[in-house]
Amino acid sequence: MGRERLKIIGGSALEGEVQVSGGKNTSVAVIPAVLLSDQPCTIENVPDIEDVHALMDILEHLGARVRYIPGVSMTIDPTGVEDWHVGYHDAKRLRASYYLIGALLGRCGKAEVGFPGGCTIGSRPIDEHLKGFRALGAETEERGGMVVAQAKELTGGDVFFDMVTVGGTINVMLAAAKAKGTTIIYNAAKEPHIVDLANFLNSMGAKIKGAGTDVIRIKGQERLHGTTYAVIPDQIETGTLMIAAAATRGDVTIHGCIPTHMEALTAKLLEMGVRVSDSDDSIRVRMMTAHRAVNIKTQVYPGFPTDLQQPMSALLTTAHGTSLIQETIFDQRFKHLDEIARMGASVKVMGRTALIEGVPQLYGAPVTVTDLRAGAALIVAGLMASGVTEIYELEYIDRGYEHLEDKLRNLGAQIVREET
Ligand code: EPU
Repeated sequence: MGRERLKIIGGSALEGEVQVSGGKNTSVAVIPAVLLSDQPCTIENVPDIEDVHALMDILEHLGARVRYIPGVSMTIDPTGVEDWHVGYHDAKRLRASYYLIGALLGRCGKAEVGFPGGCTIGSRPIDEHLKGFRALGAETEERGGMVVAQAKELTGGDVFFDMVTVGGTINVMLAAAKAKGTTIIYNAAKEPHIVDLANFLNSMGAKIKGAGTDVIRIKGQERLHGTTYAVIPDQIETGTLMIAAAATRGDVTIHGCIPTHMEALTAKLLEMGVRVSDSDDSIRVRMMTAHRAVNIKTQVYPGFPTDLQQPMSALLTTAHGTSLIQETIFDQRFKHLDEIARMGASVKVMGRTALIEGVPQLYGAPVTVTDLRAGAALIVAGLMASGVTEIYELEYIDRGYEHLEDKLRNLGAQIVREET
């Protein structure tokens, strides 16, 4: 068990203004992408989270020089990288270590990377990534807990994904950016961070077209150069704050976000009776009365994101009526509901479907985080509950949210982190 816990005294309405941090899932793709450059790169808006620190350590072990000033920028000089081996202990610190396979293949023509870690939200194979590398002429092998990929010469090829995979799309883009010839990815993921990574690579001299659609064309380049680039704001943190505002019947304006990335969530909140308004780069969420139950089906972008299913289902535990949640992306993403049931929620989970019957009130209880977004869900539940909620295993939350409890406290939440 971790040494810290969050203690929340629920019931305070969140009110005020908050700034959203840079995107986690875009940063963890952009940082390994620097390995494709011949020169140093500077990335702005990188969030100060554990996944980012894990990647910095890995790049340093590979021979890169990394200078990170949280809130300012991260500069990575990859010129000293000649190693292509990322060991088990480094790789298992985060899911995104799988991007080192594509990036090192692109840089060195070979990669030996331990199987990735990350949240246990169901089976998470990487067979589609490997299929993509093979289409680019690489040989791949899984040996002793390591993924080994190598190519005499990476050459462009056609990759048709059997399912829409965010990680697979990014990984193939990374390798293809320096392959000889053109790669076409069919059935590509369209998430905002796919577009952000393409923009980053293009700012290094890559030739990528079609990111944000389901066909991406990558004309490989022999050399990519240094760049300075600011990553997009975190779509899931924005959504988590929107849900927390609604859950506490508050009035919160989130600054620095991209409202068009939030449309699936905004539509659902409006359907529940929450008031949502936006400007170019801010969203205001107000909730005055009780909220109505809604049905949710997680889908790839621009559908409702699986990463917001967990905090959203916490909010629905106190809605008027019964909500049906269908999780279509991952097969075990309801563990948070077992914990929220301990706070008085009425939930029934059947495989990838959950039925939530709204109750008037949750009650504080000790609960344990099982994965990153489960952590966000338990915080939302704690903010809504009457009495004290203690949340354990915070390292999951620290992997992906920058100063979340400080932001919530500034909005009026009674939340503290303490030693157990
Ligand atoms: N899949 C395969 N084979 C593959 C790849 C994927 O069967 O080779 C399956 C997965 O098992 C899953 C589905 O395809 O059922 C979609 O997986 P995807 O590859 O899209 O997800 P991922 O790359 O493992 C990323 C994010 C997740 C986010 C998902 C979906 C990162 C580091 N992770 O995961 O983020 O939930 O896309 O949007 O970007 C989080 O931030 O909390 C998080 C889990």
